[in-house]
Amino acid sequence: MAAPTASETTPSAGRGPMAPRPFRVLSRRQETEDTWTLALEPADGGPGPGFGPGQFNPGQFNPGQFNMIYAFGVGEVPISISGDPGGEGPLEHTVRAVGPVSAAICRAEPGAQLGVRGPFGSSWPLAGAAGRHVVIVAGGIGLAPLRPALLGALAGRDELAGLVLLCGGRSPSQLLYREELEAWREDSRLDLGVTVDSAEVGWDGDVGVVTTLIGAAPFDPANAVAFIVGPEVMMRFTVDALLDRGMDPADVHISIERNMKCAVTQCGRCQFGPTFACREGAVMSYAAIEPFFRTREV
Ligand SMILES: Cc1cc2nc3c(=O)[nH]c(=O)nc-3n(C[C@H](O)[C@H](O)[C@H](O)COP(=O)(O)OP(=O)(O)OC[C@H]3O[C@@H](n4cnc5c(N)ncnc54)[C@H](O)[C@@H]3O)c2cc1C
Ligand code: FES
Repeated sequence: MAAPTASETTPSAGRGPMAPRPFRVLSRRQETEDTWTLALEPADGGPGPGFGPGQFNPGQFNPGQFNMIYAFGVGEVPISISGDPGGEGPLEHTVRAVGPVSAAICRAEPGAQLGVRGPFGSSWPLAGAAGRHVVIVAGGIGLAPLRPALLGALAGRDELAGLVLLCGGRSPSQLLYREELEAWREDSRLDLGVTVDSAEVGWDGDVGVVTTLIGAAPFDPANAVAFIVGPEVMMRFTVDALLDRGMDPADVHISIERNMKCAVTQCGRCQFGPTFACREGAVMSYAAIEPFFRTREV
């Protein structure tokens, strides 16, 4: 049976938070063997990229927010926005193909359509970081949801006491945004550390897990705010290393990227106690999330 087309499966835009809006793929850039960054623009002829105040607007977002991305006829998954929050450019998502839906999104060629709902969720508390050190720790694909925070921090760098980016990857070829990483390495506004679990020919950088960079990173733990995304085991060790350096749990923020279905507190898929990860998260302070974070997903 042929997959339904976008017009067959897409309710018209603006009906509410459950109605995906069709977006067209403008470009598709391969980051690693299984990860692509897609640039998207509205395909419905409506005023792009949004609908107006109070309405869902997938093109305007705060760093850390996510959209529900629908591969028509396959399924819908939550994906963080990875683009520049201050930019005029298209909506960007960086997606790792791990299963049917994410693989279908990664396969979408320029001109193809995807459905977009959002943006949803909380954001990195950049606004409250003035006068403080911002410490961003990314593991693998975790750099994607952190890229808007980094770009926002760079744009407001004069307001900050310092800016540190620590990135870990399985190998050099698994690192995202490699051209940008090179540019950030030369950028005096930023202290960058990059490490890989295993080196490849030509790699002369650090080797080891990302937590090994935390001890020597140039920030004052008593006056810092940290943003972390990566595999849960990496986030656990990173939180421990930051707390060992003396950071307050309320200043350590993580993105809980556990599975979601509706993104609007209706299905309960992301619920833990009175908390919904799609509403209170995905970005939450470690102080708020600790009991849940130390429990494996069921
Ligand atoms: C708030 C939020 C933001 C996200 N942002 C991004 C992003 O920017 N880029 C990106 O590539 N992915 C992101 N994800 C993860 C993405 O939603 C999942 O990879 C996707 O749902 C997998 O769906 P699938 O049908 O392709 O694979 P499935 O068949 O559902 O899963 C394939 C495999 O991946 C595992 N898996 C599925 N979802 C997750 C998850 N959330 N965390 C860890 N393992 C998972 C499954 O256990 C299974 O082993 C985000 C998730 C959340 C909740
Ligand atoms: S994803 Fe449905 S309640 Fe949060």
